Amino acid sequence: MKTSRILLLFAIFASFIGPVSCSQQPELSSALQPNPDLESEAEKSYEDLIIGYAQIGAESEWRAANTISIRETAEQLGVELRFLDAQQKQENQIEAVRKFIVQKVDVIGISPIVETGWDEVFQEAKDAGIPIILVDRRAAVPEDLYVSYLGSDFLEEGRNAARVMAKLVNGQANIVELVGTIGSAPANDRYTGFREILKEYPGMQIIASQSGDFTRARGREVMADFLKAYENTITAVYAHNDDMALGAIQAIEEFGLRPGVDIKIVSVDAARGAFEAMIAGKLNATVECNPLLGPQFFELALDVVNDKPVPKWVPSIETIFFPEDAKEILPTRKY
Ligand code: AHR
Repeated sequence: MKTSRILLLFAIFASFIGPVSCSQQPELSSALQPNPDLESEAEKSYEDLIIGYAQIGAESEWRAANTISIRETAEQLGVELRFLDAQQKQENQIEAVRKFIVQKVDVIGISPIVETGWDEVFQEAKDAGIPIILVDRRAAVPEDLYVSYLGSDFLEEGRNAARVMAKLVNGQANIVELVGTIGSAPANDRYTGFREILKEYPGMQIIASQSGDFTRARGREVMADFLKAYENTITAVYAHNDDMALGAIQAIEEFGLRPGVDIKIVSVDAARGAFEAMIAGKLNATVECNPLLGPQFFELALDVVNDKPVPKWVPSIETIFFPEDAKEILPTRKY
């Protein structure tokens, strides 16, 4: 009895030890192998990134420079960039974001053409675990739907344009305004910021305001209409970008007046075309809006995929340029 009990205990002990030691075998050997979980936690580099970028289109000199900056930086860093041009249509940008979600890119960059209408598609990206970085333009969405906004303070640009204009016209002007794309963040904020400062100058009034859609062609057409309607009463133009100001300059000349002299003009962007116009005495000032966002964008994207904390807003550093410095500065301008 005693012996059989001992044998039984031994059998139980052996059957208990056996499987444990066997099952431990792979665990021990796998400890010597690279752990796939730990591997996936290793920091990613630029060469590992796949980035989707939903660009607005090619409406201005500014936008062309912005696109070049994104494309060239991706190439220099070795990032795989999937770039889609929405040709000024929000529905195309939404479709682009959906394509990037299907493609499972690491990060989506987007310059939203207008501020509203993004909640649904940004939520889809969030649900798919794909972070969104807003570049250049904000979107009116809850903060949890994007990781960061990289771009300008458009309100301050509008305020600066008004401050500069007030000095130019000694606080007395009949202003016509060429507004950017209706519903876009820069048009909304440049409109509001300009008016904020104008409250301090009762002698300055906006007599007409219309969208020129940020393009040179529309700027020219709208300015020609303003001149037909208000003739010589117009003393100043506030253009939300340089392209529309350049279009307005053409219209003013065609009307037989001297842009920059008979009608003072202030615009936003500080693109090369604006410097040339300032040198020619046809534009009185341009408030800078920096399109060269490629390097900061990819740095942000890399931080995001590596789970590093990123600021909710990375503002661009910008200034104001005047004709007296234009000749010296033009050769240094990259856009
Ligand atoms: O969003 C930036 C604005 O878009 C620029 O001021 C304008 O030129 C561009 O088209």
